[in-house]
Amino acid sequence: MAFSMKQRANTGLARKAASATNRVPALVVRSVAAPAAPAAATEAKNAYGVFRLSYDTQNEDPSLTRSWKKTVKVAVTGASGNIANHLLFMLASGEVYGKDQPIALQLLGSDRSKEALEGVAMELEDSLYPLLREVSIGTDPYEVFGDADWALMIGAKPRGPGMERADLLQQNGEIFQVQGRALNESASRNCKVIVVGNPCNTNALIAMENAPNIPRKNFHALTRLDENRAKCQLALKSGKFYTSISRMAIWGNHSTTQVPDYINARIGGMPAPDIIRDMKWFREEFTPKVALRGGALIKKWGRSSAASTAVSVADAIRSLVIPTAPGDCFSTGVISDGNPYGVRDGLIFSFPCRSTGDGDYEICDDFIVDEWLRNKIRATEDELQKEKECVSHLIGMMGGACSLRGVEDTTVPGEN
Ligand code: LMR
Repeated sequence: MAFSMKQRANTGLARKAASATNRVPALVVRSVAAPAAPAAATEAKNAYGVFRLSYDTQNEDPSLTRSWKKTVKVAVTGASGNIANHLLFMLASGEVYGKDQPIALQLLGSDRSKEALEGVAMELEDSLYPLLREVSIGTDPYEVFGDADWALMIGAKPRGPGMERADLLQQNGEIFQVQGRALNESASRNCKVIVVGNPCNTNALIAMENAPNIPRKNFHALTRLDENRAKCQLALKSGKFYTSISRMAIWGNHSTTQVPDYINARIGGMPAPDIIRDMKWFREEFTPKVALRGGALIKKWGRSSAASTAVSVADAIRSLVIPTAPGDCFSTGVISDGNPYGVRDGLIFSFPCRSTGDGDYEICDDFIVDEWLRNKIRATEDELQKEKECVSHLIGMMGGACSLRGVEDTTVPGEN
């Protein structure tokens, strides 16, 4: 289902969301009339269509908004799912982009989730967030990504029973090919893209390769969740609060081959191995515990992590819009082209990065890579290369055979 912005006509359904006394801007709900449709079935389908909630900024108190920045447009896919259900309210509250940053949320769902998406929009509306200027929902990525400054790509198919990782790569790859093309056509030319849906590194690669109008540098795969998990384990083991842990890098794939780097990590400014003097623990407990955390959570919950994933998406955004503290880093999966560690070009690979807070970043070049780390990095790099070969047809490359059928499954942490 799709109808273009031009076909929309707003009808005048308006109501106040807050009293004049607390000066929260009045809310206008603009429902969207369905375009003239040739068949009754199409008409019924479009009647759910897209609707848009937007604040009537004419009536607001200028002292509240004078210092605010220009509204940031944030598109979110998988918007009626569990992760988004945590994330959207953090975004709308101002705790992610800042208390002076008004936000428009552009939510993408599927035909199946349209009603749930309307429910999400209703809950956002009922939460009276002054910074939330607009909520729009839809099922057409070309429309929903329109002018987006950020795209948070959460939606992906979970793996069904008996499905091989090669099948998952194929199915989700197709989704990210379509969405990459839609970003290319509709989003802001400097849109920042964070891919959460698994296998997130290769999905990000597919979206990037299908969006040549957007800088390759702007595509991220979420490995901040792994960084947070690693910090948690170091804090528990050392008895130090997690805020004292810095330079906690994750290298490579968001999979069980990921490399949580304890060699360069610091606790209270000291090398982590000088505080936790137990190399056996680092290699045999810390590393697998971080890499398999997603799977351990699924066993407890019966579903993937949602709240902690949403928190880590918020952290990943903050890492790009707030300058990195001197000497620290954050982990994110980014294009490996020209990296200082000899990882081959053309992969979305997690590196330690730094940002000046303008949405851009650079890969840190001062991390020590010893032989153990180098071997681990090579293994996760090889895995990403194999994943890339399995989706070569989705990224416009001549490809070889997919070698990920019938082999040990390491790709998605939650599935092990
Ligand atoms: C996680 O690390 O918790 C998730 O990526 C797991 C999953 O497969 O959804």
